[in-house]
Amino acid sequence: EPDHRLMIKTFQEDFMPHEKLLMIPGPTNLNPNVLQSLSKPLLSHTDPQFYELLDQIQNGIRYLFQTNNPYTFAITGSATIAMETAICNLLLPGQTLLSLVHGYWGNRVATMGSRLGYNTNIIQNNKFGENFTLIQIENALRKYRPSVMYVCHGDSSLGCVQNLNGIGKLCHRYNCLLIVDAVVSLCTTQLEMDNMEIDVLFSGCQKALSGPPGISLISFSDKAVQIIKSRSNMCPISSFYMDINLVAKAWGLDNNNVHTYHYTPAINLLYGIHAAIREIINEDLSKVIERHQKAKHHLEKQIQNIGLKLLIQESENRLAGITSVLIPDDIDGNMLIQFMYTKHDILIGGSLLASDPNVPKFWRIGYLGVNADRKKINQTIESLQEALQQQRNKFKAHL
Ligand code: GLV
Repeated sequence: EPDHRLMIKTFQEDFMPHEKLLMIPGPTNLNPNVLQSLSKPLLSHTDPQFYELLDQIQNGIRYLFQTNNPYTFAITGSATIAMETAICNLLLPGQTLLSLVHGYWGNRVATMGSRLGYNTNIIQNNKFGENFTLIQIENALRKYRPSVMYVCHGDSSLGCVQNLNGIGKLCHRYNCLLIVDAVVSLCTTQLEMDNMEIDVLFSGCQKALSGPPGISLISFSDKAVQIIKSRSNMCPISSFYMDINLVAKAWGLDNNNVHTYHYTPAINLLYGIHAAIREIINEDLSKVIERHQKAKHHLEKQIQNIGLKLLIQESENRLAGITSVLIPDDIDGNMLIQFMYTKHDILIGGSLLASDPNVPKFWRIGYLGVNADRKKINQTIESLQEALQQQRNKFKAHL
């Protein structure tokens, strides 16, 4: 028999997390205005004021994505649900999905594709962070004839960025729809959904938006919507929660502005995303991107100044917002992270690929959203330098 009285003995009256500087690939520290917005009075999801909020969020996402797509939403769940929503709406079982694998995320999409019963193919480069060329992509489109191709614009697992120029047009020449994962590239890298001919674009709120985790952004091109509608007439989308036809109806689209119940949305998180977008509008999207690009160059320089090396060799392949730094042979990477966390309240990221023996050991330093800031980067570098010194001194003392 479990003793519930004993279990709740340690339940705190008022759980109060310690404040830390989150220099990780996400979640990042919340913008203070966003944090406040989360505690606004709760509205019912059937309140006309709530519908007004949805309209504003839609327009805000259109601005961030640089798109005019009517099918543009914030969906409840982290960006992984946006990823799964993208593929499960565009493909029917038995159809072919091609995933370009830079690091962790391309493989995740391939796993999802296999589980959903798609004929799933991947292509991969040998060198970390290397861009796929248009020729490579065209060869793969010819070989596999996919209905849908996935590419991660900014891969957080390596800290690399894929140049998207020409990829949308190329996919369309082969009757293939293009899904782009902009989870970390949104607001850190130039991205224009309509001009780049992207069919589905998605992102998360907890990265460069400095918003709460648990809500994601997604938009579908008219071409994608047309295909989804003709497919769902033949065979309904297998997921009820992720069916974008139902999401659209809940947002008042295709429905004479009537909002149909689908599921109860994360209302407070919608306040959060609204406030986060407002911050970007106030600063201006191009300025936010520029701030991340400047932060990237500053951090890379500081890293090299303290004698560390970057994982990705070519500067143009390196992402803004997350930088991968090789762990020197004489350093215990996890111990260093612990030292910085306990001594200076600064958290840097480890690797998602640590279990792969073919991948070198590296840290991932994130500087997303409010953390794309020179002072916070300098603080992180100072702490990192002290942590390196501390381990080397300890090692010497043992000799
Ligand atoms: C999450 O997105 C991560 O890269 O750790």
